[in-house]
Amino acid sequence: MSTTLRETLRVDLPGRAYDIRIGPGLLAEAGAQIAPFLRRPKVAIVTDETVAALHLNALCASLDASGIAHSVLALPAGESTKGWPEFTRTVEWLLAQKIERGDIVVAFGGGVIGDLAGFAAAVVRRGVRFVQIPTTLLAQVDSSVGGKTGINAPQGKNLVGAFHQPSLVLIDTAVLATLTERDFLAGYGEVVKYGLLGDEPFFEWLEDNAAAMAAGDMAARVYAVRRSCEMKAGIVTRDETEQGERALLNLGHTFCHALEAATGYSERLLHGEGVSIGCALAFELSARMGLCAQEAPSRVRAHLKMMGMKTDLADIAGPLPDAAGLLDLMSQDKKVVDGNLHFILARGIGDAFVTSQVPKKMVLGVLEDALRDK
Ligand code: GLY
Repeated sequence: MSTTLRETLRVDLPGRAYDIRIGPGLLAEAGAQIAPFLRRPKVAIVTDETVAALHLNALCASLDASGIAHSVLALPAGESTKGWPEFTRTVEWLLAQKIERGDIVVAFGGGVIGDLAGFAAAVVRRGVRFVQIPTTLLAQVDSSVGGKTGINAPQGKNLVGAFHQPSLVLIDTAVLATLTERDFLAGYGEVVKYGLLGDEPFFEWLEDNAAAMAAGDMAARVYAVRRSCEMKAGIVTRDETEQGERALLNLGHTFCHALEAATGYSERLLHGEGVSIGCALAFELSARMGLCAQEAPSRVRAHLKMMGMKTDLADIAGPLPDAAGLLDLMSQDKKVVDGNLHFILARGIGDAFVTSQVPKKMVLGVLEDALRDK
């Protein structure tokens, strides 16, 4: 495969800087890419059964070719893995592998595996290094970069975790070919988010090129992943622990988390689908509050619809709570401070900001109208 489609980005955190390498065929080079980080030729791979069936042979062959021994833990695929039982199992497995401080854990999979294995690496022996090899579009553009690791608690999603930056992120854009269309589009919800929150020219590029990207155009895939990671890397470098700007990455997420909770974190709504609907609602709310022109939400929805994304509450199968019920679910979000909901709103496409100055009546109005169309 063409080596010209290669990009390297740097997440320039003092003392913990790392590269994000992007391009088709990187999985076959994983051994050579990881070797310089090893103190002894041995890694522990945490993956899931779906990714293992599709891609583990390629990763292991590459490690073998570089003389790197490897042991593998393949967890069940799916969000329910991201909890205490599989986390305990992973930590105990890593200890049984006699992972040392200087060793590397490889997180090989989507967001669930990256978050869980990254968190295990953060706590085993008070912290060992890890490499992210994300295999879904969502993980490639969001969860594998930036060092948020963790698991879900019975009380809610991602409530237990740590900031623990990887030593390297290897993004093989060719593995996206094995994703279902639904999973690809769910990941695209996070790609479009970057244009909406801070880069109107990127959103314009997506309007022109995202259909080709979804159809498999590799140069377009590499560019979209690179631009997304570049934006995330910049934000994370400036605000690693989300004291300010990093919250912009949560555009669409306040609505999304309420919808995910309402649908039981089930197949009824994938996270990236909730982000897509959430972005549409955040722009609608922004327009109603007079912050941006009505053309902005219309343009956002038109693009999401053109891509075949979920955009409206009507796109979620089955019943939903009423507007007050959804607002109540929002109030349980991590982003509630002193009882005030924090929203990411926009002055226009590419111009998002964080605010707690959102009248509940306005939010209820947006939700009531969205539910009326369901
Ligand atoms: N996914 C949001 C963040 O990494 O901050």
